[in-house]
Amino acid sequence: MNAIKLLVFLPLLLTVTFQSSLKPPLSPSSSVNQNSTNDTNEAPLQQYLELTLPLPTNNITPACSTSILNHTFTNTTSVNVNYTPPPDTCEWSVFFLEFRVACKGEQHDNGIAGVWIGGIELLRTSTAQSTYNGVFWNVRKDVTRYYSVITQHNLTLSVFFQSLVENHEFNVVYNVSVSFLFYSDTAEAHSPSRKLISVKNYENDGNTPADVIIPISGGVNDGFWFRIHDESDTRTKDVQISSKAYKAVLELYVSFHGDDEFWYMNPPDLYIKANDLPITSGKGSYREVLVTIDGKLVGTVIPFPVIFPGGINPLFWKPVVSIGAFDLPSYDIDLTSYLGLFSDCHNHSIGIRISNGISFWLVDANLHVWLDNSNVQAIMEYEPPSMEIEHKYEFEGLDGEFKTEVERSTSSTRLVQSSKGVLKTKVTEEIKFTNKLKFKEYGTRKELEQKIKTKTKVKITDNKGHSVGETVIEKTYPLKITVAARLGSSKGGWLVNTTVIQGRNEKFTNEIGSVSRVLNHDLNCTGWMMLVKGNPIISGFTENHQNYSYMDVLKGCYSRKVDVVEGDVIADETTSICVN
Ligand SMILES: *[C@@H]1O[C@H](CO)[C@@H](O)[C@H](O)[C@H]1NC(C)=O
Ligand SMILES: *[C@@H]1O[C@H](CO)[C@@H](O)[C@H](O)[C@H]1NC(C)=O
Ligand SMILES: *[C@@H]1O[C@H](CO)[C@@H](O)[C@H](O)[C@H]1NC(C)=O
Ligand SMILES: *[C@@H]1O[C@H](CO)[C@@H](O)[C@H](O)[C@H]1NC(C)=O
Ligand SMILES: *[C@@H]1O[C@H](CO)[C@@H](O)[C@H](O)[C@H]1NC(C)=O
Ligand SMILES: *[C@@H]1O[C@H](CO)[C@@H](O)[C@H](O)[C@H]1NC(C)=O
Ligand SMILES: *[C@@H]1O[C@H](CO)[C@@H](O)[C@H](O)[C@H]1NC(C)=O
Ligand SMILES: *[C@@H]1O[C@H](CO)[C@@H](O)[C@H](O)[C@H]1NC(C)=O
Ligand SMILES: *[C@@H]1O[C@H](CO)[C@@H](O)[C@H](O)[C@H]1NC(C)=O
Ligand SMILES: *[C@@H]1O[C@H](CO)[C@@H](O)[C@H](O)[C@H]1NC(C)=O
Repeated sequence: MNAIKLLVFLPLLLTVTFQSSLKPPLSPSSSVNQNSTNDTNEAPLQQYLELTLPLPTNNITPACSTSILNHTFTNTTSVNVNYTPPPDTCEWSVFFLEFRVACKGEQHDNGIAGVWIGGIELLRTSTAQSTYNGVFWNVRKDVTRYYSVITQHNLTLSVFFQSLVENHEFNVVYNVSVSFLFYSDTAEAHSPSRKLISVKNYENDGNTPADVIIPISGGVNDGFWFRIHDESDTRTKDVQISSKAYKAVLELYVSFHGDDEFWYMNPPDLYIKANDLPITSGKGSYREVLVTIDGKLVGTVIPFPVIFPGGINPLFWKPVVSIGAFDLPSYDIDLTSYLGLFSDCHNHSIGIRISNGISFWLVDANLHVWLDNSNVQAIMEYEPPSMEIEHKYEFEGLDGEFKTEVERSTSSTRLVQSSKGVLKTKVTEEIKFTNKLKFKEYGTRKELEQKIKTKTKVKITDNKGHSVGETVIEKTYPLKITVAARLGSSKGGWLVNTTVIQGRNEKFTNEIGSVSRVLNHDLNCTGWMMLVKGNPIISGFTENHQNYSYMDVLKGCYSRKVDVVEGDVIADETTSICVN
């Protein structure tokens, strides 16, 4: 009886074990592939990367750049410096945050970090595991939407590191530098093949950055993010919004850790109890971030399941990390329809909580507000988000199948009167979530099949009923994971087969119905690893294949395909030709 329990229980713990006691894998291939048979300290650092849109830094020099911070994170977890806006002499229209990290030596940590200016979050990023020869990576993110913050004087820029190793000393030594790169439109004109295209502007097309951004975040001491431990833990922040506001968008930053790092693979508590398993990562496999104004539900988000560089099989993510690992997506919730609830200069409480959440989540938000010159009337008609949830749990002993289906829909109509006239806006959103989790072979084999689908429609008409604009944003996030373990030939060792197939597919359509932007990022990782409890990964074999393609009707196309076998990049092709 005991033997079986152990057999089952270990695989259930595997993913958790990686982030805690296991040393980062020093696979034989990764030291060979850098051409460093002379394994000296002089070997160049290996570059890690996430497939994303290239920035024009190779072809165009920025109009100006400002270096804000160089810091070595050792025992410190946060650093605050004065932020300097670009000089007035600098002419720019687009700007990027550059976050560079270098580390060396075997470190057993996995971390999550964020960058804030005046409490406004600009970037959420996870950290890769270091190796003996050292690694580095650069994250560059278009932060043009934070215009009103970037141009302010006398603000503080903060970087906060959170070690994801519970009950361990923070033992990371990361060299971090933060700078801003400013580009002008003229530069863009000179380089037609590499335009300043930005995924981030995707959804706010045609919109100028907000006039004011209000942080919905915590205190500086523990980082600005709220650390949420369970579903009853609602964090609130009082805000006062001017009655001149004519548009409001709440941008959520969210990451999940600890018992909820793989929330989509957590079994229901029923199963854990019935089998008397000593695990705490339960509560089933559905999570949602809920946003309230004065206690009233106004928006929900099922986050994209970002897999951090220590996740599922750490060998997968060297040197190409998973989708979103270095630049976690943020999520926009349009609150314009609710302006009538809170744009009266009085205190209103914005709340964030995690439905079914367990320890722990790091969440905060930026409230982007656009102001008009005169007072604005926001008349709203709205149906609060409706929800249907269906669970089907079947299990016998350790084997079972758990299905969860969620459907949400939200609809609101608003009339906004401003100096721009009277505009009627109807926003509808449908969210579909399906999650099928199977445990087989005494629970040693776990199979996940999940899909998150979101469709958001925004239709604007003028006071004569004429359509002024219509946009549709469709997002599909499929995810398939298999983890299968069996006792290996060496004593006490486990052979674990792992597969991750994941996609981030986003489509933005304009009013004529012609697709204006499409992003498709797919990955397919397969392989195995040999584990002995409490030791580094002994051996393994992995492949990581990724396709990234971005198409923009106006600004062109970009695609990149990378194949990695055993940590070696065996193929890496980039094109900027539009197929179709
Ligand atoms: C490895 O080093 C050899 C000799 O120095 C060189 O010819 C070869 O191109 C290098 N390979 C790589 C992948 O850097
Ligand atoms: C190793 O180092 C020696 C001496 O420094 C040098 O001659 C040799 O080319 C190096 N080999 C490689 C593969 O870099
Ligand atoms: C950071 O280091 C770089 C390169 O050494 C240097 O150019 C830059 O001025 C430094 N920035 C700060 C804020 O110290
Ligand atoms: C971190 O602090 C501990 C004690 O406070 C000290 O022993 C250790 O050397 C420090 N580590 C680093 C990398 O500075
Ligand atoms: C980190 O910075 C320190 C001090 O500037 C330097 O000695 C060290 O080589 C750097 N490490 C890496 C991996 O770049
Ligand atoms: C920044 O703060 C200093 C002192 O607190 C003040 O003298 C200066 O005018 C401020 N600058 C701006 C641009 O607000
Ligand atoms: C909002 O609440 C704070 C305390 O939480 C209070 O100091 C402030 O006066 C209030 N403002 C308004 C406009 O009610
Ligand atoms: C892992 O995969 C190999 C080959 O694909 C297969 O022979 C082996 O049985 C698998 N092991 C487990 C535990 O599923
Ligand atoms: C990448 O695209 C190629 C060609 O379209 C396809 O054969 C391959 O399966 C794709 N790979 C992934 C990981 O989606
Ligand atoms: C993923 O890759 C494996 C082999 O590496 C292949 O057999 C499988 O068909 C691929 N799946 C998808 C969905 O591309």
